[in-house]
Amino acid sequence: MRNRPTNERPTVIRGPVLTFTGNPFTDGLEHTAVYERDAIVAMANGRITEFGPAQHVLSRLPADIEIRNYGKDSLISAGFIDSHVHFPQTPMIAAYGEQLLDWLANYTFPTELKYSDKDFARSVARVFLQENLRNGITSACVYCTVYPQSVDALFEEAEKLGMRLAAGKVLMDRNAPPALLDTPKSGYDDSKALIARWHNRGRLLYAVTPRFAPTSSHEQLEAAGALCREHPDCYMQTHVSENKNEIAWVEELFPERNGYLDVYDRYALCRPRAIFGHCIYLTEEELQVMHRTGSAIAHCPTSNFFLGSGTFDISRALRQDRPVRTGIGTDLGAGTSFSMLTTMNAAYKAAQLNGYSLSARHAHYLATRGTAHAMYLEDKIGSIAPGMEADIVVLDMKSTPLIKYRMQFVEDFEEALFVQTMLGDDRAVQATYVAGELKYSRNTAEVIST
Ligand code: GUN
Ligand code: ZN
Repeated sequence: MRNRPTNERPTVIRGPVLTFTGNPFTDGLEHTAVYERDAIVAMANGRITEFGPAQHVLSRLPADIEIRNYGKDSLISAGFIDSHVHFPQTPMIAAYGEQLLDWLANYTFPTELKYSDKDFARSVARVFLQENLRNGITSACVYCTVYPQSVDALFEEAEKLGMRLAAGKVLMDRNAPPALLDTPKSGYDDSKALIARWHNRGRLLYAVTPRFAPTSSHEQLEAAGALCREHPDCYMQTHVSENKNEIAWVEELFPERNGYLDVYDRYALCRPRAIFGHCIYLTEEELQVMHRTGSAIAHCPTSNFFLGSGTFDISRALRQDRPVRTGIGTDLGAGTSFSMLTTMNAAYKAAQLNGYSLSARHAHYLATRGTAHAMYLEDKIGSIAPGMEADIVVLDMKSTPLIKYRMQFVEDFEEALFVQTMLGDDRAVQATYVAGELKYSRNTAEVIST
């Protein structure tokens, strides 16, 4: 949205639209889900300028305006948002055989050592961001590595694409290979400099990123708390209660604390814009703390299945008397797909294993406005309405022979959408717009770079 003429001619697209005006978990689908069978979305200067039934909007547009009509077999949605992902793990996705702690030691840390080389970091950042766009992901909350240059590389590439991205340097001063460790002071100083350089630059946002309690000393968690206090509008992201051995280890390392989340709460890291990855084994008291402090959960089901971590109970997290803000995330490289459709598929299965059926529209909400809400960004991204930032994904509802065949038998939109969430993947993404500009088009099968 920077460096653009202020009165740009609108980009106009047409097709069926699904979007949300509020939270269907608390207020019901009938009050919050908007499905428009034949809609027009106009975008200019990075924002949505018009949205509504085609018949209404057409009369408000210049007569000679070009309209890209995606047709009745498409679905236009707000761009997907990934609440939790590790860009440096792109080269090691699908690493065999281990659960969390051994997976970190045997695969993740050796890979992350390579990011002292900024050129390598940049090459991975490019692949990572292209995969995001190929999957209709227009925003994400991203872990980098302990090396500040890996953060610069990611932000520089995201800025070229105009993406709204939150990211941060991992803070880690113990229990990892020596070359991957910072110190409480260097971690603080490096984060401070990155915040000054990147936070609120264009659409970019900074996330203070202590990796997880086992890899940070008390002093480092204290420093992370200070960074959050000094920069209250920055994000804070970390992991909690993902794996049983991890939880037992945290109890050994912090015997004075009343459970895992309390380690973070002690340093005032539970707060608005704090995003906690996984949260599978949080107790009722911990969920109360999450609710009371305005903290958010990043539910990462493909990762939880892949690492054998457990099955997150989303209906429990969202309980009406103390709902916790909840988004969904890929958690790649422990997550096994960049596709948000595949991630919704896994979220459905995790819910099923907890006796709850997650509807397709609720899942779609989670991947768009729900994650925006978890990030306190629902006034900017995650839905289609005039004034919102113009991040859009266009899905093809007949993207494979099987889906095309299955779609002959669907009786309504809900069923059609459910088929997409169970059977769809990157092939379903027809086009991705970032801040009103077409950045990926399946027809040309490449990311359109600026
Ligand atoms: N816990 C600490 N670091 C990580 C990580 O990189 N991935 C996952 N899934 N869990 C973690
Ligand atoms: Zn993670």
